[in-house]
Amino acid sequence: MSKTIAENYLADPRIEQAKKLITDALKEHASELTGVRAGNPKLKDIYTQMLEDFSKQRGGKLFYDYIGSGIGNGALVELADGSVKYDFITGIGVHYFGHSHPGVVAAQIDGAITNTTMSGNLQQNVDSPKLFELILEQANKYGAGFDHLFMTSSGVMTAENALKMVFQKRSPAHRVLAFEKCFMGRTLAVSQITDKAAYRKGLPQTLSVDYIPFYDANDHQGSIDKAISMLKKYFTRYPGEYAAFCMELIQGEGGYWVGNKEYFQAIITECKKNNVSIIVDEVQTFMRTKEMFAFQYFGLDKDVDMVNIGKNSQVCATIYREDHKPLPGLISQTFTSSGSAINAAYYIINEVANKNYLGEDGKIEKLHFHFAKNLDQLAEKYPSLIQGPWGLGTMIGMTLFGGDLAKSKEFTFKLFDNGVLSFIAGGSPTRVRFLVPAGAATEKDIDSVCKIIEKTLNEMN
Ligand SMILES: Cc1ncc(COP(=O)(O)O)c(C=O)c1O
Repeated sequence: MSKTIAENYLADPRIEQAKKLITDALKEHASELTGVRAGNPKLKDIYTQMLEDFSKQRGGKLFYDYIGSGIGNGALVELADGSVKYDFITGIGVHYFGHSHPGVVAAQIDGAITNTTMSGNLQQNVDSPKLFELILEQANKYGAGFDHLFMTSSGVMTAENALKMVFQKRSPAHRVLAFEKCFMGRTLAVSQITDKAAYRKGLPQTLSVDYIPFYDANDHQGSIDKAISMLKKYFTRYPGEYAAFCMELIQGEGGYWVGNKEYFQAIITECKKNNVSIIVDEVQTFMRTKEMFAFQYFGLDKDVDMVNIGKNSQVCATIYREDHKPLPGLISQTFTSSGSAINAAYYIINEVANKNYLGEDGKIEKLHFHFAKNLDQLAEKYPSLIQGPWGLGTMIGMTLFGGDLAKSKEFTFKLFDNGVLSFIAGGSPTRVRFLVPAGAATEKDIDSVCKIIEKTLNEMN
């Protein structure tokens, strides 16, 4: 009798059978989604009314006229008007295995049929320790030596928690450094770090933040020299006042700018001399390069203090070492995540870690190069309309119409109407970007998406 009743329950053949029935039904219905499709005219009025009511209820129009039906097939998703589109933005980087992936659905069922809906700090189920072990094992793959992680409910909460831990350790230091154009989220504190004036309009100043320009690939040494000289000035102007440098290694919302190892190392060395902790925000980059973490891609394993993950990981977390461990009471949450999300997180991270996604010959690199090759060809054919591609791995973007905001936005709406979900990023230039669902997308999907991009460009020309 070494097993719990729950273990016997979950191993009950009826559960296995029920799961099989569900996944078989899902596969059968999902297989009807074979390509982009216009909406069903019979659903048009109901859908239009639903969009209108929902926009009113939520206090503003949705970016796209998008309400999902609840099913998809790989990179394809069905909307509630019966239309089918390629989802190449995935909820801004969440649905990494696309839609209705049988493995993800089965993992969610495992979480959904247990005793609780939400896990929290007081009561967590056996799924949490299993997930924590996997994430720490992956974070320590090249010897980073992380000891702990704190699970939370959103990307921005990982930033809040990391900042609180760093401020407590470095007290009374209270200033923060960040890169220009960075995005970290929108709480009252973190809106002060996110480098976008509109996102903090009317808010009180809760944090003092100073910025340095992000890496410019066209001026490698100049980028390093400028960053170091600015850091030195800040450290002289406010001695002992800086607690943290918050950094994205590949800027997401800022416009898909890719950093550089030497540049980061120079900055980190200067920060370490001044007792400044390094918080790396991987909410968008986690699982998107040929390494599990972008800090591993740039070889910064020993250099970074706190690493935040979210989006693709389904649950959000701050990973850190013993030296940043908070005192009791500093961080806690009633909800950390749902059992379904925790199980889906384990499934997705485990697949990416062990099934040919990572490395030089992994699926992430292959998808990137295939997409990049297609975009290069479009750029050659339409040099005045499209430039790029930018980004790394499954973060890929292009500049259209010289980066004009209004035209780029118009393009994303027309692309949506033609059957592809994308989004904009950055400003001066604005970019159109994709967050490719690596667990679902094929090279054929990318070819189809690129044909629709070309058609849409021609419509706007
Ligand atoms: C780099 C980065 N950090 C933090 C966040 C905030 O995540 P959330 O919206 O889950 O709070 C985002 C969201 O886009 C992000 O891209």
